[in-house]
Amino acid sequence: MLLQSLVALAFATLTTAQVTYQNFSGTRLRVDNGTYGPEIEEVHYYYDQWPIGIAVASDGRIFTTYTRGSYRYTLGVVVNETAEEPYPSLALNLPVNELNTTWHGIAFGSDNANAFISVQALYITPPSNYTSRPETLWVLDTGRPTVHNAQGDPSMPYAQPGGPKLMAISLANNTIYETFTFPSTVHYPSSYLNDLRFDLRPHLSGTSGKGIAYLVDSSNEGRPGFIMLDLGTGESWRRLTQDISVLRGQQDVPSYQGRPFYFRQSGQPVNWQQEGLDGLQLTTDGERAFYSPLSTNVLYSIPTANLRERDTNPTAELDAHSNVSSHGQRGGNANGFEGDSNGLIYQLIPEQNAIYAFDSSKRGNGQTQGFVRDPRIIWPDGASIGADGFVYMNINQLPFQPDWNFGVDTRTHPGAILRAKLPNGGTKVSTLY
Ligand SMILES: *[C@@H]1O[C@H](CO)[C@@H](O)[C@H](O)[C@H]1NC(C)=O
Ligand SMILES: *[C@@H]1O[C@H](CO)[C@@H](O)[C@H](O)[C@H]1NC(C)=O
Ligand SMILES: *[C@@H]1O[C@H](CO)[C@@H](O)[C@H](O)[C@H]1NC(C)=O
Ligand SMILES: *[C@@H]1O[C@H](CO)[C@@H](O)[C@H](O)[C@H]1NC(C)=O
Ligand SMILES: *[C@@H]1O[C@H](CO)[C@@H](O)[C@H](O)[C@H]1NC(C)=O
Ligand SMILES: *[C@@H]1O[C@H](CO)[C@@H](O)[C@H](O)[C@H]1NC(C)=O
Ligand SMILES: *[C@@H]1O[C@H](CO)[C@@H](O)[C@H](O)[C@H]1NC(C)=O
Repeated sequence: MLLQSLVALAFATLTTAQVTYQNFSGTRLRVDNGTYGPEIEEVHYYYDQWPIGIAVASDGRIFTTYTRGSYRYTLGVVVNETAEEPYPSLALNLPVNELNTTWHGIAFGSDNANAFISVQALYITPPSNYTSRPETLWVLDTGRPTVHNAQGDPSMPYAQPGGPKLMAISLANNTIYETFTFPSTVHYPSSYLNDLRFDLRPHLSGTSGKGIAYLVDSSNEGRPGFIMLDLGTGESWRRLTQDISVLRGQQDVPSYQGRPFYFRQSGQPVNWQQEGLDGLQLTTDGERAFYSPLSTNVLYSIPTANLRERDTNPTAELDAHSNVSSHGQRGGNANGFEGDSNGLIYQLIPEQNAIYAFDSSKRGNGQTQGFVRDPRIIWPDGASIGADGFVYMNINQLPFQPDWNFGVDTRTHPGAILRAKLPNGGTKVSTLY
């Protein structure tokens, strides 16, 4: 009897002290609250199209992109807390039924160089000290929409010259003032323009002195690399194509929200994410480019001089390869990058609901550090530093989208723009323009 009541008493004590299910308020155990770093502020809510890219202008305007498909427009500007509108106009968006075409049974994206097809990324350069360029919104159109067949299976047509392009919009008069396209020997039919950075200084080796764009080709089909564009001559060339540092991680299985992720596309067997080179950021002196594929954990960098070296140099590609630095693993796959005036290279880490940072300045200790983490950061896609010293990021719940989940959409509105104050008075990099 005594023993039984002791057991009963012990059991009762145990059960009352136990915290059940996911209610941690009564536990004596240490709990990961999912956060660290500066306060996260909710800036904007997306209730309509799901966003990809973001750029914040000096006057506070926030521009966003939406890859197409079926969406009505692909470049927008935030107009209030819950809505965006086409920018600079709806008319610049090619109608959905003109986004792709078929030639000899092969699907191609449109070759229209004068209209938006599917804009992936944006970058804003301030009024230039070295060229006549005003504050400019650079618009990177992949020319490769994601289209769906009658069964709803997604596919991405190949690019035709003309479709993939870089457009310059003056933020002073909201007008496209220049467009660059690429030959098929530089932008392959299977290329995918994913990100962009600029250096407008006149002394740059390998250029005409009117500035350069460094573009990311993230090609899921397997020939990723860098595309450079001379902004004076319009000439373009590639570097590090299929270098080990830009290739996808083989059979990579990241975890999102604590669940292993496989690529589940309707009409295809279960697969792995195949995307290569994705994030790119220049150092404040423009001498080095940091980068990484989407589907590996490794951070790399290369002297930008090696990227600018032209094909007339027979060892340009060998030199570039031998000058790649690996900064080792950083603790997760990374998506888009940003960088600040203190030399921090911010890396968006969807697996950790976080932004990590690598200090590229002399103060750096060679290690990637956590900057900010929050359970609301469910796939941070693009980031952009505003004139206010905050980093703004798009939250788009990408791993829950139907094209990665056998057609089932488990995203829940709204998507969001979040922001966090940069450490130590960091601001947007201004030294290269
Ligand atoms: C969580 O547990 C505490 C006591 O441990 C209780 O007061 C509270 O009502 C619980 N909350 C929910 C949502 O069940
Ligand atoms: C969450 O945990 C971190 C690390 O222990 C702590 O610094 C932070 O203040 C906590 N945040 C909240 C909201 O409790
Ligand atoms: C936000 O802008 C949209 C589109 O212009 C408009 O329909 C809506 O009424 C606005 N909402 C608020 C709260 O101002
Ligand atoms: C565009 O792609 C869709 C999906 O594959 C296809 O149904 C449609 O016929 C294509 N349009 C053209 C003009 O080829
Ligand atoms: C807009 O600004 C650009 C760049 O300064 C200039 O080239 C262009 O002529 C301007 N367009 C209009 C319509 O004002
Ligand atoms: C590697 O980059 C450095 C600049 O950081 C340059 O001086 C050197 O010539 C480059 N080496 C090769 C083989 O390109
Ligand atoms: C260009 O001018 C701006 C404003 O005067 C300055 O902040 C910036 O550092 C300059 N950029 C360079 C590369 O000198």
